[in-house]
Amino acid sequence: MCGIFAYLNHLTPKTRKEVLDFLVNGLKRLEYRGYDSAGIAVDSADGRNVSIIKKNGKVQALQDEIYSREADLAFEATADCHVGIAHTRWATHGTPSERNAHPQRSDEDNTFCLVHNGIITNYKDIKLFLTKKGHTFESETDTEIIAKLMMHIYKKNPNDTFQEIVEQCIQQLEGAFALCIKSKLFPGECVATRRGSPLLVAIKTKTRLATDHIPILYGKDFRPHGGTAAETLTAASLMPRTPSTAEFQPMEEDKQVEYFFASDASAVIEHTNRVIFLEDDDVAAVKDGTLSIHRIRRNMDDPHAREITTIKMEIQQIMKGNYSFFMQKEIFEQPESVVNTMRGRVNFDTQSIVLGGIKEYIPEIKRCRRLMLIACGTSYHSAVATRQLLEELTELPVMVELASDFLDRNTPVFRDDVCFFISQSGETADTLMALRYCKNRGALIVGVTNTVGSSICRESHCGVHINAGPEIGVASTKAYTSQFISLVMFGMVMSEDRISLQQRRRDIMKGLQQLEEQIKEVLKLDSKVQELAKDLYQNKSLLIMGRGYNFATCMEGALKVKELTYMHSEGIMAGELKHGPLALVDETMPVIMIVMRDPVYTKCMNALQQVTARQGQPILICEKGDKDTQEFASRVLEVPHTVDCLQGILTVIPLQLLSYHIAVLKGCNVDCPRNLAKSVTVE
Ligand code: AGP
Ligand code: GLU
Repeated sequence: MCGIFAYLNHLTPKTRKEVLDFLVNGLKRLEYRGYDSAGIAVDSADGRNVSIIKKNGKVQALQDEIYSREADLAFEATADCHVGIAHTRWATHGTPSERNAHPQRSDEDNTFCLVHNGIITNYKDIKLFLTKKGHTFESETDTEIIAKLMMHIYKKNPNDTFQEIVEQCIQQLEGAFALCIKSKLFPGECVATRRGSPLLVAIKTKTRLATDHIPILYGKDFRPHGGTAAETLTAASLMPRTPSTAEFQPMEEDKQVEYFFASDASAVIEHTNRVIFLEDDDVAAVKDGTLSIHRIRRNMDDPHAREITTIKMEIQQIMKGNYSFFMQKEIFEQPESVVNTMRGRVNFDTQSIVLGGIKEYIPEIKRCRRLMLIACGTSYHSAVATRQLLEELTELPVMVELASDFLDRNTPVFRDDVCFFISQSGETADTLMALRYCKNRGALIVGVTNTVGSSICRESHCGVHINAGPEIGVASTKAYTSQFISLVMFGMVMSEDRISLQQRRRDIMKGLQQLEEQIKEVLKLDSKVQELAKDLYQNKSLLIMGRGYNFATCMEGALKVKELTYMHSEGIMAGELKHGPLALVDETMPVIMIVMRDPVYTKCMNALQQVTARQGQPILICEKGDKDTQEFASRVLEVPHTVDCLQGILTVIPLQLLSYHIAVLKGCNVDCPRNLAKSVTVE
C-alpha cells in the first residue's frame, strides 16, 4: 500500500551514515503515499548480524531514533558492499505499532528480513501451517508469515540460492505484494518481487549502461500439485532449481554499481533515472553486483527481457517549492497542468485534436455499443463531470461507475463495450480489478492515468496519459482538472466529423484555449476564499449544492472538504432538494450553491430560493458580473464565464482552495489527511 525503498551498493564504498541517510530520504520521498509507521534493516555495525530499527508514526521519528543511536550504528564506518531495506507501512493487518511495522523477520536471529506492500489473503492458512511446524509469531501482520515461510523453505533446501527461496515462497502466496528481502545468509544480495503492488529497480553506474534491457530467466514451477498453500507446502518437495544462464552483468568499468528498489520513481530520481518497472511475478535478484530477473514459467506472449527506461522526472517536480504544502502547490499548478494535458494534442490553429495513445482505436470505439467510465473517488467525479458532454458528442450511452460498486454487482460487460479506467495513480486496486474484469469479457480497455508505467497503464489496450505531473498531496486536485480535460478531448476526437456539432466544437475549442488564463483568474480568489474559510472552519457541516454540469463539482468539493478538514460535507444534487436534503437547511447550516448561466440556470435559481426561504444564507459560486443572481447570496465567489461543459473546471478550484484553507485553520495535516493514502492498492 505504501512505500518500499532499498539501497544496495556494490564495490561503491559508503559510510554507514550515508547508507542510513539514503534509506531515510528514500522513505521521505515516499511519504506522500500515506503511512502509519516506518522502519529499516541494515547490517549491524560488526557486519555479523542485521539491525532492525522501527518507529510508529512519522519517518522523522525513525530518523531521530537512528541518530540517537549514532555510536551503536557506527556512522563513520565504511562498507564497500551493503544492502539496506526500508519501509513505510499503512496497516492492513494489525494495528499501527512498532511491532507490526516492517521490516518483519523470520526469527530472532533476523535471518530473513523483509518489507512488504500489499495484503496476503491466504496468510491464515500459511500461519497455521507454520505454527504446526513450530514457528512462533511476534506481530499481527500478514507479512510476517512471508519471512517465516522463507526460513522454512531454506531449512528444507539449505543449498538453494536466495532467489530460489524467494521464488518458492511467492508461489505459496495469494493476494498482493511488493517485497524487498535481505538475508544474513546472503550478504550483499537483495531480492525483490511483486504481484499487484508496484515496484521498480533503478541502476546507477559510473558510466552509461552498456545495455538497455535485462534478459528474463524462466524457471520451473514449484507448485506442481495446485491446491491450497498449506496443502502444497506439505506436498511439495520444493525441487532444486536450474542455475541461471543469462543476466545483467555490469561492464568492467561498471563494476561499481548501486541499485535502488522503490515503489515509485520519486524515491530514486535524485540518484539515477535508469529504471526497470517490474511486472507481476518478476523476481529481481542482485548477487555480486549482478542483477538478474527471473520468472517461474513462460507463457506464449511473455517477453524475453525487461527494458531499462530513462525517466524524465525532474527533482524539482516533486519538491514543494515555495508553497507550504504539496496540495497548495498542486492547486496553483493548474494553469500549467491543464496546458500540459493539451500539449501536443490540441491544435488551436487547425481546430483539431489528436490523442496519440488511442488514435488507432477510434474507429473501433465509434462502433461500440456503449462507453463505461469506471473509477474511484475524485477520478470518478471527473467521469461524472464529463458524462453529459460525452453523451452529447458521441451519441453513445455512457455509464459512469464506481469501481467498487461495479465489482459488487457483477455488471454485464460485452465485447462491444468500451471501458475507460480513470486513475491518477494507475494503481487503485478496485479500478484495476474492474479493468481485469472487463478485459476478461473482451471489452476494449482505455486507461486514463497520470502515472506512466503504472499497472492500469500497462494493462490497458490503449490510453491517455493526463500529463498533470506528479501529484503528491493525498487530496487530488490538478489530476482532477486534467482528467476532466482528457475526457473532453476524447469527446472532441469522437465528434470531429459531425457537421451538426461544428459550432459546439468551436465553442469548446475556444473554452479550452482560454482555460489557462481563466484558471489564473480564479486563483486570484485565494485570499477571499481564505477569509471565507475563517468564517466556516468551526462549523460541523457544509452543504454544497448544484446540478447539471456542476453536480460533479459539488461532489468533488464535498470530498475535498471531508478528506482534508474532517468536517461533514455533502454534495447535493439541487434537483433532489425537495426530496430530503432541504430538511437540513436553516439559518445555521452553511450552504454553498453553484449557479451558472447554463441550461439549468432557472432550476438552480429555484433551488436558491428554496434555500433562502428556509432562512438559509447561501454562499454563491457564480459567473463574474452576474448581479441578478448575486442578489440572493450572503457572499459571492465569482468565476469567469466559459462554455457550459468546461465551467466545472473553474467552479471546482474555489472549493479546492476552501478545503485547503479550512484544513490549515484547523491544523489538519494537509498533505497526508488521517486514515487516507495516496495510492489505494487494496480493495
Ligand atoms: C482524492 O482526493 C482522493 N484521495 C481519492 O478519492 C482518489 O481520487 C481515489 O482513491 C482514486 O485514486 P486514483 O485516481 O489514483 O485511482
Ligand atoms: N499488509 C501489510 C501489513 O499490514 C503491509 C501493509 C502495507 O502495504 O504497508 O503490515
